Amino acid sequence: MDDRQLVGLACAARGRAYAPYSGFSVGAALLDADGRVWQGCNIENAAFGPTVCAERVALFKAVSEGVRSFEALAVVGGPAGEGIAPYTPPCGVCRQVLREFCSDGFRVILASPDGSLRTTTLGELLPQGFGPENLS
Ligand code: THU
Repeated sequence: MDDRQLVGLACAARGRAYAPYSGFSVGAALLDADGRVWQGCNIENAAFGPTVCAERVALFKAVSEGVRSFEALAVVGGPAGEGIAPYTPPCGVCRQVLREFCSDGFRVILASPDGSLRTTTLGELLPQGFGPENLS
């Protein structure tokens, strides 16, 4: 599974987004340590607050199936019904949720419409984050 394939799976997940309120559809593909990929899309709600981001859907699917070790995440987003927008990064809440299970070196892959990829890490996205070790 290379980065470009992972982005492709994020794009496929984005096609299943339920985003009637924002009109912004997001897809995520999370690669676990065994090479399995967990896909997620944003799922909005009429009450707005219960909306869940694509990244958390992917992560919660995996964790709920007993998977807790991850290597990389691809995220794509853009106006629903259109191509992707340039480099949609995970929101702050998703960065914190990822921090629970992923190391600073966990790779996050973003994509642009021209096919360029940008790779960053959770450590760069959430420096000095609060994690499980802070409670011990
Ligand atoms: N969204 C995500 O799915 N992931 C992010 O990291 C950023 C935001 C969703 C939430 C909402 O459904 C829409 O994008 C607009 O904020």
